Amino acid sequence: MASDTLTITDNRTGTLYEVPITDDTIRAIDLRKIKVNADDFGMMTYDPAFMNTAACRSAITFIDGDRGILRYRGYPIEQVAEQASFLEVAYLLNYGELPTKAEIDAWEHDIRYHTYVHTNVIKFLEGFRYDAHPMGMLLGTIGGLSTFYPDAKDVHDPANRKIQKIRLMAKLPTIAAFCFRHSRGLPYEFPRNDLDYIGNFVNMTFSIGGKHEPNPVLQRALEILLILHADHEQNCSTSAVRAVGSSGVDPFSAVSAGIAALYGPLHGGANEAVLQMLDEIGTKDRIPAFIEAVKNGGDRLMGFGHRVYKSYDPRAKLIKQVAYDVFQQTGLNPKLEIALELERIALEDDYFISRKLYPNVDFYSGLIYQAMGYPTDFFTVLFALGRLPGWLAQWEEMITDKEQKIARPRQIYTGEDARDFVPLVMRK
Ligand code: CMC
Repeated sequence: MASDTLTITDNRTGTLYEVPITDDTIRAIDLRKIKVNADDFGMMTYDPAFMNTAACRSAITFIDGDRGILRYRGYPIEQVAEQASFLEVAYLLNYGELPTKAEIDAWEHDIRYHTYVHTNVIKFLEGFRYDAHPMGMLLGTIGGLSTFYPDAKDVHDPANRKIQKIRLMAKLPTIAAFCFRHSRGLPYEFPRNDLDYIGNFVNMTFSIGGKHEPNPVLQRALEILLILHADHEQNCSTSAVRAVGSSGVDPFSAVSAGIAALYGPLHGGANEAVLQMLDEIGTKDRIPAFIEAVKNGGDRLMGFGHRVYKSYDPRAKLIKQVAYDVFQQTGLNPKLEIALELERIALEDDYFISRKLYPNVDFYSGLIYQAMGYPTDFFTVLFALGRLPGWLAQWEEMITDKEQKIARPRQIYTGEDARDFVPLVMRK
């Protein structure tokens, strides 16, 4: 008779233990009862980089990495990307259901009327050097916002959490756009409440002398890219938001930790690295030599590979289509040809096939952002803009989860045993 338990024999002692299985998972804490004697701390699991450890239960995003499936709250990413607006997706991720007309109107209205930032934030931004990386500016400024909203510390009040989410959703595009203008030495363009979320952001980045002629195809392309980045379950930056947020700190501080994690080249910084890589390759004839260098361990093929996807990243498929729509408007970027050829060669090469390395979300997104007129160091900021609703939804889920406590992993100590302190004069 089958039973939902796992029987473990400890060969050190010959003792048998029965551990319950729920959702094909055992609880690591149940292993603590496995001891060689009463003084023993008990068995732990060792899982660097959390390769096989579920740290939470989540109802937000489903990924099947082997089959290339991604769903937000049960809705397939392909349908969401085709039909939803970014703010609808943000609402869906945060509240679990697609909004009614009245709900989306209220959500959009609230976000629209919180887009301004305190003028001291501008003074704060002016303190950054002219060549400061916009991601560094963004993470510092969002962290700084926590000092403007001390009420945000009340993280256990649902109404308060909602206000802080609206503030973050509304102000992050404003601050992101200010970082963009700072890098270019342009005066800051203030939010316009007559424009929609994407239109307002594009206007704040590109408007010159108060004028910008929006291109609806490029604006929808940007919106789709943000939707595709909106959540991706327990990735590095989301885990950072959850871990930092688990200390009970305000959401501005927790989100700035997420931005810091996203900044890294193995995470959100990969889209910037892809463009640098394409620049370095330069021409199609140099691709084979580059692929050889990657296979010999010299470089990584940036924009390829994923911890979870072991088939084509569904977001990369959708982004490739967006790339064609954008290039029809802006003219072909020669780097696209290099990227397509790189992808073709890599997908036929045994090194990449055997390791199940396929293009990920970042492989084509940088090319699109560049075609839209954004400089490479701004790409990760756009990723952050897209990922914000996911960070907020995951933060809320963590706060309201009765099983969660402050994140605090264990370690296996590998250092010296106890020894006596040696005074400086006696050290050799
Ligand atoms: N180019 C060449 N080889 C690679 C690559 C790559 N991009 N990615 C993985 N490998 C190899 C790796 O060398 C290893 O080979 P071996 O078994 O011979 O040692 C094997 O594939 C497994 O790699 P891993 O590093 O153990 O895999 P991981 O799950 O720890 O890493 C990753 C995932 C995304 C960090 C990695 O694939 C990578 O560095 N990719 C390039 C950076 C990138 O595009 N990042 C964006 C990820 S998607 C957006 C996001 O979520 O932020």
